[in-house]
Amino acid sequence: MATQSIVKVSELLYPRLTVPDLDAMEAFLMDFGMVRAARDADTLYMRGTGAAAYVHVVHKGATGFAGFAFGVASRNDLDRLAASEGFSAVEPRTEPDGGWRTTTRDLDGNFVEVVFGHVFNDAKGVAPRRLNIGDRFERIGELQRVPPRPSRIKRFGHIALNVASPAEALVWYNARFGLIASDRVNIAPGMPAAIFVRCNRGVVPTDHHTMLFASSMATAGVSGLNHLSWEVCDIDDVHAGNAHLAAKRHAHEWGIGRHLLGSQIFDYWRDPWGHIHEHWTDGDQLDASIPAGDHPISGAQANQWGPDMPPSFGRTIAPTN
Ligand SMILES: [Fe+2]
Repeated sequence: MATQSIVKVSELLYPRLTVPDLDAMEAFLMDFGMVRAARDADTLYMRGTGAAAYVHVVHKGATGFAGFAFGVASRNDLDRLAASEGFSAVEPRTEPDGGWRTTTRDLDGNFVEVVFGHVFNDAKGVAPRRLNIGDRFERIGELQRVPPRPSRIKRFGHIALNVASPAEALVWYNARFGLIASDRVNIAPGMPAAIFVRCNRGVVPTDHHTMLFASSMATAGVSGLNHLSWEVCDIDDVHAGNAHLAAKRHAHEWGIGRHLLGSQIFDYWRDPWGHIHEHWTDGDQLDASIPAGDHPISGAQANQWGPDMPPSFGRTIAPTN
């Protein structure tokens, strides 16, 4: 895109959900693969194995989606945004990891925070399992044993929103945050029903999509959360995580499969109030030079292998079981 953005965001930090029962949400997120970072009477912070202080924020209240946060590279970026139309003044954050933020609302009314100066934890992360694959034998003399336990969550990866206009959403997010298109799924030429967008980090490769804008035509015109997604450590974490969540009788949504656009191996689950939470591994990494792809809409975009996408996917509804 030719436009000059106000800043270029570098990453996504966390979503905010609101649910009436923090105990039940914490139990679900532990089964999903997170651990508690902090909790008080009103708010639950859950972390993964990475350096982010937390990767999910849950507030006590009526069920709903309450926004999400980007990280930027400098305080100067926050000041530039705060000086722009529609953004709050820079304010100190009241969260456990400190720092500052400015906030705004997007075209569909979603609350967007932009954060800098927060502290990280001392997590070193976990290494993926070594594999004997192709002509690479990485674990000679070493047995592969995968303990039955929740998936290991590395980081918050992307957020998918149902929006009134994916094209207008991209223009809005590009002008403010520098997000660029990776792939468009088009109803007709120039009429995208969905746009996968990534951060513009120049020559630094980044996730194929940090956001997905899906047309709210598919949700009867209702904008809002489509799904939330976290990267897990490796392929065993997708499958072992699936087995653990199934054993705990959580509501499965879709998977395991490999997407086409973004290429991730994915698995989707619903929290007790129906918000869709995704595990993924082995996604595409693209630098900013890769041009956007255009694809005519068809069921073929959903996955390369694995089960068909259920009609309920992308709709935040309470599970029926
Ligand atoms: Fe996803």
